[in-house]
Order: sequence, then C-alpha cells, then structure tokens
Amino acid sequence: MTGDPTRGIVRVVPDPASLAESAAEAFVRLTSAAIAVRGRFTVALSGGHTPRALYELLATSRFASRIDWSRVYVFWGDERCVPPDDPQSNYRMAREMLLDRVPLPADNIYRMKGELEPNQAAADYDLLLREFWGNRLGVFDLVLLGLGENGHTASLFPGMPAVHEQVRWVLAQYVREVQTWRLTLTPVVINAAANVLFLVEGTSKANVLRQVLQGPYQPDRLPAQIVRPTHGKPTWLVDVAAAAELEKSI
Ligand code: 6PG
Repeated sequence: MTGDPTRGIVRVVPDPASLAESAAEAFVRLTSAAIAVRGRFTVALSGGHTPRALYELLATSRFASRIDWSRVYVFWGDERCVPPDDPQSNYRMAREMLLDRVPLPADNIYRMKGELEPNQAAADYDLLLREFWGNRLGVFDLVLLGLGENGHTASLFPGMPAVHEQVRWVLAQYVREVQTWRLTLTPVVINAAANVLFLVEGTSKANVLRQVLQGPYQPDRLPAQIVRPTHGKPTWLVDVAAAAELEKSI
C-alpha cells in the first residue's frame, strides 16, 4: 500500500490495461455483493477519458456475462452542460462504450440532463435522487471518480463553493477553467457512498496524485481531498506512471 493511509487504499497496477481490468473485476465483485444483499446495485459513473477502457471492458462478454444488468442502476457523478449527444457528454461516452452494449433496462439509467438550464438540471437531479432514495441520504454502492491534473474530481473544481456544500446533493457551477457549466454530485452524496473508487493513470497525474495523497490537506486547492467517505476509505486504483511520485510508505 502506498500513500497516506488516512486518505485511502492505494493499489498500483502496471499500466492502463491492467487498471481497466482491475477496475472491471472490482465492479463485478461490488455488483454481485450489492445484489446479493440489497437486490440491486447503484453506481455513479465518472466521465472524462480514463474510465472509457473500463466501460468498454465491462461490455465484453467476459465481464458483462457476470453481471445481472437488470438489477444495476446507473447514475452520474458529474456531467457537462451539453446535450446528451454532444461529444463532450459523459452520458454519451458511457452510452457508446457500455450502456448500449449490455442488457441494462433504459428505466435503470438516470441521466443528468445537461441540455437543461444548469440550475434547473441540478435541481431536477437532486430531486430525482431524493425520490430514488426515499428522501434518505442516498448511499451509492459505488461512486467512480477520476482526478484532474488540477486536483478536481467529479466536477468539484478548485475554489468552487460546491467543494464545501453541506446540504444539496447536486449543484451546477460555472467552471472558468473549462469555460463551461458543469453539474456535479456534492461531497454530501459522494462521502455517503458505500464504496468510492478513483481511477488515475498516466504521468500527467503523478504530481497531483502525490499532492492529493501525501501533501497538506487543502481541499479548496485539491478538491479530490474532500472525498472522505463515512463508510470507509476511498480506493485509489492507479498505474505505475501515475504513482511515480508517491513516496513509498515505510
Ligand atoms: C469529467 C470527469 C472528471 C474527470 C477528470 C479526469 O467530467 O471530466 O468527471 O472529473 O474524472 O477530469 O479526467 P481524465 O480521465 O480525462 O483524465
């Protein structure tokens, strides 16, 4: 195990292909466990580039055949405020890489509506989650997260009020860095999850990963640090390149 033990369980794998493989195995394991106990599996997907290989792998028969998709319920951790067929849409990426390739009922897919006015979309999704969870704090079986080079995760970006949100479950924020509106789950929901899995790969993430895991606690500068699940530590699945700057724990 590498990194600050208080900030998560770090698993280092050789390369992106083994990262996708390990993540897919974890996904299957968590799905089976949740369905066995609760009869369903709820997951908030992440966007960006890193999870593409995981989604593609989950859609292969080697993995898809091991999942009871009728009991899987898919949400998103964040979304860009664009239409669902926009190349920037996290929904579109997941639909193309996974959702269109497995027998997941359409009713089990809960998309953030990026095409709506951002604050309306956030309010709608917040309400959708509260209705889904029966007005109790939603406990996702799994929240998948990535890590941006600036330390953001989901769409919790440095300096944004959403990083410290204590009440609402979903917020819309205009993100100057990317000059777009984004929708994001807040730490309220992310930290309530039963399992949080970060997927981080590549040399470009090595410096920020070291800062997040081993540097001072500064969530306004490194929002990924705000992820401290109440049900246990997040798991960081990282490849050797991303782990290159981590000081090996003695
Ligand atoms: C998004 C993601 C975002 C992502 C990081 C890492 O909407 O872009 O949810 O939080 O996980 O930016 O992205 P990469 O995997 O592309 O490096």
